[in-house]
Amino acid sequence: MLNDLPREALLRPLTRTEVVSLLLRLTIFGAATYYSIKWVLEAMDPTAKQKSQAKKRAEQLMKRIGVEGVKLTEYEMNIASQLVDPNTMKVSWRDIAGLDEIINELQDTVILPFQKRHLLAGSKLFQPPKGVLLFGPPGCGKTMIAKATAKASGCKFINLQASTLTDMWYGESQKLTAAVFSLAVKLQPCIIFIDEIESFLRNRSSLDHEATAMMKAQFMSLWDGLETSSATQVMVMGATNRPQDVDPAILRRMPTTFHVALPDTKQRYAILQLILAEENLSSTINLKDIAEKTEGYSGSDLRELCRDAAMYRVRDYVRKEQMRQIAHQLGEVQEKETPVDEDRLRPITQLDLLFGLDKMRESKRGTANELRPVSDVPLD
Ligand SMILES: Nc1ncnc2c1ncn2[C@@H]1O[C@H](COP(=O)(O)OP(=O)(O)OP(=O)(O)O)[C@@H](O)[C@H]1O
Ligand SMILES: [Mg+2]
Repeated sequence: MLNDLPREALLRPLTRTEVVSLLLRLTIFGAATYYSIKWVLEAMDPTAKQKSQAKKRAEQLMKRIGVEGVKLTEYEMNIASQLVDPNTMKVSWRDIAGLDEIINELQDTVILPFQKRHLLAGSKLFQPPKGVLLFGPPGCGKTMIAKATAKASGCKFINLQASTLTDMWYGESQKLTAAVFSLAVKLQPCIIFIDEIESFLRNRSSLDHEATAMMKAQFMSLWDGLETSSATQVMVMGATNRPQDVDPAILRRMPTTFHVALPDTKQRYAILQLILAEENLSSTINLKDIAEKTEGYSGSDLRELCRDAAMYRVRDYVRKEQMRQIAHQLGEVQEKETPVDEDRLRPITQLDLLFGLDKMRESKRGTANELRPVSDVPLD
């Protein structure tokens, strides 16, 4: 840059115009260098595209949820892309069968304090708990309950994915973790939901990567920070089917726990009724019998069983249709022989459900065998 100046200018004090021109060039050169470095860094960052998409999504979501005039940092914007609009939530209490006791308790301890917060605004006791844990075997409705809670309470709901908090740049994860809580406070009342919490906040060990260990510690201290103000309406809700793998320090912060166990006969009956409510059932169907025969089955198993049963009649229908076409091609069909309700599927029968149950038993036995410890497998 100094090369552009006349040679004698280097031997005497610079004129004002020369200084201004030099400064101008330096500024332009600096800005160009800054933007090229920034461009190169962004091009190198594999998450750059994801970040800009997250920002766009967050802006749209915030508008839809009706959050306006709240200034968010870049990190908060990133987390805000995981906001769920409670009004668009498809799951409600009506979709959950046989868990009335848990639902009633949730209404009293969690939803009521959120909904009626104006009644006892100053009280430290009339507050939603800062942490709630739903635990129990897979497929028994934990995720459904969390979603329905958000819908019923009308709170903002951050469905936090652990992967959002992991960033390749050192220090970014901590900033994102801090953003989770600062965003929740800005949007309160708010529920931060962490599904499969054991994978994110599992037992700490000395083998943890330094950044992960720091993130967990920071998460806990930010969580404690929520306690300081009685006006803060932010709750962390976790769901897990392996509570023994969750860090004990995290469990301590979730004193309100709900055990979503495998359904008993009465609950299974209620779940079957709900799943089959809209279906065309044969009048001879006996759901109580199926409920009794499905000891140890989860709600999700029952849904799968019913789906299978419903498929049998579709298969029957398709087969009948094929036979009819073959008969037609062979010229064997007689007008009188065509079934009256050929365009309609027959109702689901008890036999379909029993077939579904058999198939489910088979597959359960298969998975149980696959999951057997290697030592149990006989050697040929
Ligand atoms: N009580 C129930 N009433 C109605 N449907 C249920 C019930 N429990 C489970 N289901 C069915 O099982 C499916 C799985 O439920 P959900 O995802 O809530 O299970 P989960 O407990 O979160 O399982 P996981 O621990 O594997 O995440 C639901 O989509 C629903 O169809
Ligand atoms: Mg789940």
